Amino acid sequence: MNELKSYRVWDVSVRWFHWINVLSVLGLIAVGVVILNAKALGVSGDGKLVLKTVHVWIGYVFALNLLWRLVWAFIGGRYARWRAILPGGRGYLKEVRGYVADLGAGRPRQYLGHNPLGRIAVSLLLLLLLAQAVSGLVLAGTDIFYPPLGGWIAGWVAAPGVDPSTLVANAPQLYDKAAYEAMRDFRKPFIAVHYYGFYVLLAVIAVHVFAVVLTELREGTNLVSAMFTGKKVVSEAPVDGEPAD
Ligand code: HEM
Repeated sequence: MNELKSYRVWDVSVRWFHWINVLSVLGLIAVGVVILNAKALGVSGDGKLVLKTVHVWIGYVFALNLLWRLVWAFIGGRYARWRAILPGGRGYLKEVRGYVADLGAGRPRQYLGHNPLGRIAVSLLLLLLLAQAVSGLVLAGTDIFYPPLGGWIAGWVAAPGVDPSTLVANAPQLYDKAAYEAMRDFRKPFIAVHYYGFYVLLAVIAVHVFAVVLTELREGTNLVSAMFTGKKVVSEAPVDGEPAD
C-alpha cells in the first residue's frame, strides 16, 4: 500500500457554496413539489401564494450563492476555476479515454480536482442551476411582483389609475386585462424552462450523488469528507497534483 498524502483542494468559498447550495436546492425542491401538487393536496389559492413566497425567498439565497460561485470560478484557487471545471481544452478527449480505460482495468487515476467525467457532470449541474435561477427570478416577478423584475411587470399590467406598487397576486380587478394576458404569454417559456429544468436537474443530481459515492468506494478517495474539510487524502500521485502540504 502506498503512503497516504493529504492535499488542500476545496477552498472555503467552494465548501460554503456547496453546502448552502445543497440545503437551498433541497428546500426549493420540497416547496416546488408541493406547489406542483397544490390542487391534489387541497392547498387553497392563498396557501399557494404563501408557498410561492417562501420558495422565492429560499430562491434568493440560492441565486446569490450561485452568483458568487460563478464569480469565484474567475478569481478563486486552482481547483475552483473554470479551467478545472469545464470539459474541453487541449487533450481533454484523450484524458477521458485514458481515465475510462484505467478505471475499467481496475487502476483508477486519482484526481484532486474533478476527474474528466466529473467535469461534465459539474458543468451540467451549474448550467441547470443557472437556468432554474434565471427562470425562477423572472417568475418571481410575473407571479408575485417580487424583485428583480416585479416593479417592471407591475408597471406593465396595472390597470389605468392603479398604482403599480400596490399590485398583488390573484387580484384581477387591479390588472389591465390585455396587458395581463400579454404578460402571461411572455411568462410561458420561463415556466417551461423552470418546470422541465426541474426534472432534468433531479436526474443529474441523482447521477452526481451516485457517481461521487461510487468513485469514493472504487478509488478510495475521501470525496464526501473533503467537501467539509477541504482536504483530499490519496494513495497514488494525483494526475493534477500540487505538492502536498
Ligand atoms: C434549483 C432551484 C429551483 C428548483 C429545483 C425549483 C423548483 C420549482 C418547482 C418544481 C416549481 C413548481 C413548478 C410549477 O408550478 O409548474 C417551482 C415554481 C416556482 N419557482 Fe422555483 N425552483 C428553483 C429555483 C427558483 C428560484 C431561484 C426562484 C426565484 C427566486 C424560483 C421561483 C419560482 C416561482 C415564482 C414558482 C411558481 C411558478 C408557478 O406559478 O407555478 N424558483 N419551482
